[in-house]
Amino acid sequence: MAKKLSKPELFEALGYKPHAGQILVHRSTAPRRVLACGVRWGKSTCAVMEAAAALLQPREACLGWTVAPTLDLARLIFQRTASTLLRKMRHRVKLYSPREQRLVVVNLGGGLSVLEGKTADNPTSLLGESLDFAIVDEVVRMRESVWTEHLSQRLLDRRGWALFLSTPRGRDFFWKLFRRGQNGRDKDFESWSSPSWANPMLDRAVIEEERGRLTAEAFASQYEGQFTGEDPDPCDVCHGPSRDVPATFLLREGEAIGRCAECGRSVDARGRTIVKRHSNGTASVVVIELRERRGEPAEVHFSEAAADQRGPVLTAPGGPALEVDV
Ligand SMILES: Nc1ncnc2c1ncn2[C@@H]1O[C@H](COP(=O)(O)OP(=O)(O)O)[C@@H](O)[C@H]1O
Ligand SMILES: [Mg+2]
Repeated sequence: MAKKLSKPELFEALGYKPHAGQILVHRSTAPRRVLACGVRWGKSTCAVMEAAAALLQPREACLGWTVAPTLDLARLIFQRTASTLLRKMRHRVKLYSPREQRLVVVNLGGGLSVLEGKTADNPTSLLGESLDFAIVDEVVRMRESVWTEHLSQRLLDRRGWALFLSTPRGRDFFWKLFRRGQNGRDKDFESWSSPSWANPMLDRAVIEEERGRLTAEAFASQYEGQFTGEDPDPCDVCHGPSRDVPATFLLREGEAIGRCAECGRSVDARGRTIVKRHSNGTASVVVIELRERRGEPAEVHFSEAAADQRGPVLTAPGGPALEVDV
């Protein structure tokens, strides 16, 4: 068998110059990679190159799938991979059937590698044998069961890898996958999120025009590559918002409210959350500040902040209130 394939050499041969964000994905060896970036970031391009590299890797045999919510979307990465190899390495393409969504490549070790395009809207098409890799595009438009019931098991036997791609949306299944790849939560996962303009080929001015046409939330998700809406899970670091803390926090003279380095919400001097999760899902805290003066009764100042309003709501009877963001 020939030596292991070098991705940089292959990319050069294919005329592909990955941008800085794409390089991180190509370098990662995590078995589960999650790419949650703005539209036109270059997610599909990155996946096409990963598919090409996997198909050319020297080994006896290899089977990979590109999966998307609809047939048209599934074709995108499949066909781009096929046309990239047909253009630059036609002699290695043994079979290309757009109708069957099947591409057979003679890899660098002389073995046969197969890529198949699959659609998630027909789960019976997802029945099959063990996979060496799965590239799952537009994940936010897919049901979680596509992964949990149809794909993940197929990767077990051959220790296959998966690459998940999507522009982020709310706190859905894709968010859960993304979260596992952050801060070392799951050693098998690595995830990245970055805005559309990380792709140097895109014109920033054109993206800025879109800002005016979209709601702030839509722009944040589609172009800034951010997950929107309130995170239903407590923060890993401060454990807030929490049902187990009181709805009011007593701040003594000289004490200060801190900020959690992970989620940015208010914490006490020991870094624990002071933010209350209410039964209706909202989060807030009322901070009561005591200011004692020698020989005089303590003054009490109130301040209140609501997480869903992303800013302090202040009530301050009798003096300046303490500004607290939850
Ligand atoms: N590294 C790159 N070099 C040159 N062009 C790129 C690169 N990455 C992406 N592109 C181009 O940017 C555009 C958007 O890429 P695409 O992969 O379709 O983005 P996404 O899937 O994130 O929406 C395409 O025209 C693609 O050819
Ligand atoms: Mg795409």
